[in-house]
Amino acid sequence: MSLEACESINQQGPDFPIGWYSVARGHELVAGEVRRVQAFAREMALFRTRSGTAVVTDAFCAHLGAHLGVKGRVVGESIRCPFHGWRYDASGQCVEIPYCKEIPERAQVRSWHVSETNGDIMVWYHPEEAPPLWEVPELEELCSEQWSPPQYWEFTVPNHVQNIAENTCDPQHFQYVHRMKDTPPQQVDISEDGRVLHMVADASMADYPHDLHATMHNPGLAIVRTVYGPEAEMLVYSTAQPTTLEETHLRWTLTVRKEIVDAVGDDVMIGIMEGIDDDMPIWRHKIYREKPVFCKGDHALIGFRKWVRQFYLDPPSTDER
Ligand code: FES
Ligand SMILES: [Fe+2]
Repeated sequence: MSLEACESINQQGPDFPIGWYSVARGHELVAGEVRRVQAFAREMALFRTRSGTAVVTDAFCAHLGAHLGVKGRVVGESIRCPFHGWRYDASGQCVEIPYCKEIPERAQVRSWHVSETNGDIMVWYHPEEAPPLWEVPELEELCSEQWSPPQYWEFTVPNHVQNIAENTCDPQHFQYVHRMKDTPPQQVDISEDGRVLHMVADASMADYPHDLHATMHNPGLAIVRTVYGPEAEMLVYSTAQPTTLEETHLRWTLTVRKEIVDAVGDDVMIGIMEGIDDDMPIWRHKIYREKPVFCKGDHALIGFRKWVRQFYLDPPSTDER
């Protein structure tokens, strides 16, 4: 098989990385609501119990496989299958079969670990279903008097979540894709425990000079601070829903310091969205190179690829030459 043929098989990227991913905005799911969700290339059911807990389960009923997220009904703290009325509690255990007293042992569906933090309903992904290894970081700014009420933005990107995250550590593309005059000097540091990646870029050459601080907790879970000066800060909190290996839905929550709310806000965000439009054709058509040929100038990208390995049980290798 030719090399190009091999790569076309691996077009989409590696497996889904371990970590926290969003499946909905918390405020969009009222108590008693049921939804169909697609994430990690599988079907899921999302519902909010009457007492307010968000629950995510595998979609298909243990009985005859009806989709719980399509016409399923919330009953108290459980979801009722639309087909024959079997009810599952938040842990995924079947708690009632309306026409039979005895509940078979295997009458259960997988319930996913959920964390409702910073306004998003987050699900923990681990290929071997291990419990969460860390928590979703809480952002005080999203409920602080000194920051503007959050604004929400969403968009779908035709690529693997790792490839989108990789863009943060790719200063060179700014000149060519985003027509920036120069390459912003960038530094990538990894936290002591190795899990959190910090990227700092000095964009003093931009139209609005600023520093950029991006903190990535796992691919797709990032906090990006743009610092224009003291008390002149903008924060974008980004979560991702990898629907498949080739498509990722991004949810951004934006807040700015009240001092600059009139100066920043919409214009800057529209500028960022136009920037995303520039990236789209590249993302849509690029392949995933498991072993890219890197040069010495690619140190931020090399740092990213080293960091990202920990989110896979079978890590993608990197050619660092
Ligand atoms: S398929 Fe769900 S109760 Fe029968
Ligand atoms: Fe970009």
